Amino acid sequence: MEVVILPGSKQIGSLAADAIEELLRRKPDAVLGLATGSSPLPVYDELARRHEQDGLDLSRARGFALDEYVGLGPGHPQSYREVIRREFTDRVNIAPDHVHSPDGSAADIPAACQAYEDAIKAAGGVDLQLLGVGTDGHIGFNEPGSSLASRTRIKSLIEQTRRDNARFFGSIHDVPHHVITQGLATIMDARHVILIATGAQKAQAVRDFVEGPVAAICAASVLQMHPHATVMVDEAAASSLRLADYYRHTYDNKPPWQGL
Ligand code: GLP
Repeated sequence: MEVVILPGSKQIGSLAADAIEELLRRKPDAVLGLATGSSPLPVYDELARRHEQDGLDLSRARGFALDEYVGLGPGHPQSYREVIRREFTDRVNIAPDHVHSPDGSAADIPAACQAYEDAIKAAGGVDLQLLGVGTDGHIGFNEPGSSLASRTRIKSLIEQTRRDNARFFGSIHDVPHHVITQGLATIMDARHVILIATGAQKAQAVRDFVEGPVAAICAASVLQMHPHATVMVDEAAASSLRLADYYRHTYDNKPPWQGL
């Protein structure tokens, strides 16, 4: 796990966009794992800017969302399918039928989860997965206690997550209780994972998953077992890390050929 401490969201957006641009140059039909929440927004903004101003081409790229609310209904503005369309895919030239998300309206949820796993596999797996982290250490919607071997499935949200996400809905009463999320093992199959965390409210979760034990109580800690995980944090989110100076020193002195 590489920890990169940057001054703010702008620099994080730019560095993560560099990794995606480099991937697309190498593999134009790359499969991107798309996260929602506010953390990846600077990356989407930067990719949209590069598409518009520098002609960054995503016409052959494919995308898979991490998770989805259950029961919001197609077209609901807070469904993650809509959020990803609004915040990212409508702003670049990725083909709409190349972008997939779990079907939160399916009558048969377990079948929809299996179909999602099958679709990721059929696409050749995720090349680069963007992630945020919840204040309780969740990734996707893998709440504390999620099996480290989990695959795409239905989960119940913890009250804290519903409170955190109420800002998008207006009221906590409108936040669904159930979600479909890629499992931790599904996420671990991605070839490269970039997790973004900004702000002091994430400092404890960042310390727990980067420097604490690998444990289901902090789902993101499973990334300690990932062969290529990059954690991009701002100074506030890094403020509780014990080894912050070491991470800074390592990144500042990294041989250029190593890349991200
Ligand atoms: C939601 C999403 C996660 C996201 C988390 C943090 O719960 N399911 O994928 O990482 O929120 O969101 P934010 O980046 O807005 O803090």
